[in-house]
Amino acid sequence: RILVLDFGSQYTQLIARRVREIGVYCEILPWDVEETRVQGFAPSGVILSGGPESVHEETAQTPRIAAAVLDLAVPVLGICYGMQALAHQLGGVVEPSQTKEFGYAEVRARGHSVLLRDIEDRTNDEGHGLLDVWMSHGDRVAELPAGFKVIASTPAAPIAGIGDDDRGLYGLQFHPEVTHTRQGQRILERFVRSVCGCTGQWTAGNIIDDLVARVRETVGNQNVLLGLSGGVDSSVVAALLHKAIGDQLTCVFVDNGLLRLEEGDEVMRTFARHMGIRVIRVDAEARFLDALAGEADPEAKRKIIGRTFIEVFDEEAGKLDNIQWLAQGTIYPDVIESAGASTGKAHVIKSHHNVGGLPERMNLKLLEPLRELFKDEVRRIGVELGLPAEMVHRHPFPGPGLGVRILGEIHKEYADCLRLADAIFIAELRAAGWYEKTSQAFAVFLPVRSVGVTGDGRRYEWVVALRAVETVDFMTARWAHLPYEFLDHVSRRIINEIEGISRVVYDISGKPPATIEWE
Ligand code: XMP
Repeated sequence: RILVLDFGSQYTQLIARRVREIGVYCEILPWDVEETRVQGFAPSGVILSGGPESVHEETAQTPRIAAAVLDLAVPVLGICYGMQALAHQLGGVVEPSQTKEFGYAEVRARGHSVLLRDIEDRTNDEGHGLLDVWMSHGDRVAELPAGFKVIASTPAAPIAGIGDDDRGLYGLQFHPEVTHTRQGQRILERFVRSVCGCTGQWTAGNIIDDLVARVRETVGNQNVLLGLSGGVDSSVVAALLHKAIGDQLTCVFVDNGLLRLEEGDEVMRTFARHMGIRVIRVDAEARFLDALAGEADPEAKRKIIGRTFIEVFDEEAGKLDNIQWLAQGTIYPDVIESAGASTGKAHVIKSHHNVGGLPERMNLKLLEPLRELFKDEVRRIGVELGLPAEMVHRHPFPGPGLGVRILGEIHKEYADCLRLADAIFIAELRAAGWYEKTSQAFAVFLPVRSVGVTGDGRRYEWVVALRAVETVDFMTARWAHLPYEFLDHVSRRIINEIEGISRVVYDISGKPPATIEWE
């Protein structure tokens, strides 16, 4: 296992993901973590992330590598700030660079370090290996610490990489974890496997075995309650817990009337019928629609939906006795983002999973078996656990569901119309091979009447907008450039097949300035 020490880089999570992609378990801890946690983790190697600070700034208490880390005497790879901290603390000199480098750079690999040997994009006239990398630094290492050699250089940073093969200590001024560094994954793999000697045992099958064993040990013969939403995370928790503890698991699925077409039936088919999981389905459509009646404000609607969910879930939970645990689909990015990897102490629960005061009132303990996994790992173990691939690779769906996709006031008639339009759009995206190429796609109901004509008749009906975006992190997004023929086909189907819709428009706004959802 590998320890990633976070010095505040925006890429720290990416380092951890890359290591896990290599098949090796790793965790992120803040740079100022207590020594006992470092010793307790007992890593086979340590990666130091980049960070915004300068080691030569004497004024502030700049982040340092804890003595406990260096005392482990295991291989260390310092990236960017991590390299400078390593060089500085082992007796080298770091100074502000005359030429700052940000972005693409061509690095010459020097010598024959274990880390970079035979890894190159091409060679120059003298036969030296050249690498295309992503550089970002204002400081540079000016003098090597004892025992180190230069293993990479650029004209602006003659010491762009340092290495001591005997001790397995390395530093890189560039970022191997980003895809712009084309050989980055090979470099990380070289460090993790060849230098640290880790073998790739972090596979879906092993992860499941490990989680199952831990759940059994934690839960014993006690009973667990899970709010199942049909989303990826809670679905995988359900499948995992069922494998681990069978009938000790009870799921509650709340149908709020704002779900996609036939979603409730699908959830029951997959979990209750096929997998034999005990799922209590609560049909709460009328209750949600009553609570929402007359409310047009998006944030007020979100609050009503959240509050009603908690009430309903609470009531159902109250009917069950002998439950000791509440399971949640919290995943690693939730833990890092909400707590902040650099504090690592707080424990905040994903807000839409957080079912009110239930845990305290019913005296429930929290079970979060996916806390250490990234989304792609959750998907992989989901498939391995036998969930349908289609369910595991679904686009994200907001907690308030169609409640934020029906603009303004919500009426059942609108929701029914929208469900049909959305189902046609999604089915056509799948058929045309566009579903996988987009990150999120859906229909939005606009409560605007528009005139149309069908045959000899005049229609005066509602408008539906289609939205499809491509994004990696959902913070920024590009509208998907779907082919005109495809949009034409979807539009015809929606208008012809759905009574009540006479016009379809396509949303061509990026995020920013628009958001992905319309409300
Ligand atoms: P926006 O609309 O802010 O959405 O660009 C970014 C991502 O977040 C989802 N989203 C929500 N998810 N509860 C949720 O669970 C919400 O209230 C909510 N609002 C937006 C949205 O679907 C997109 O994936």
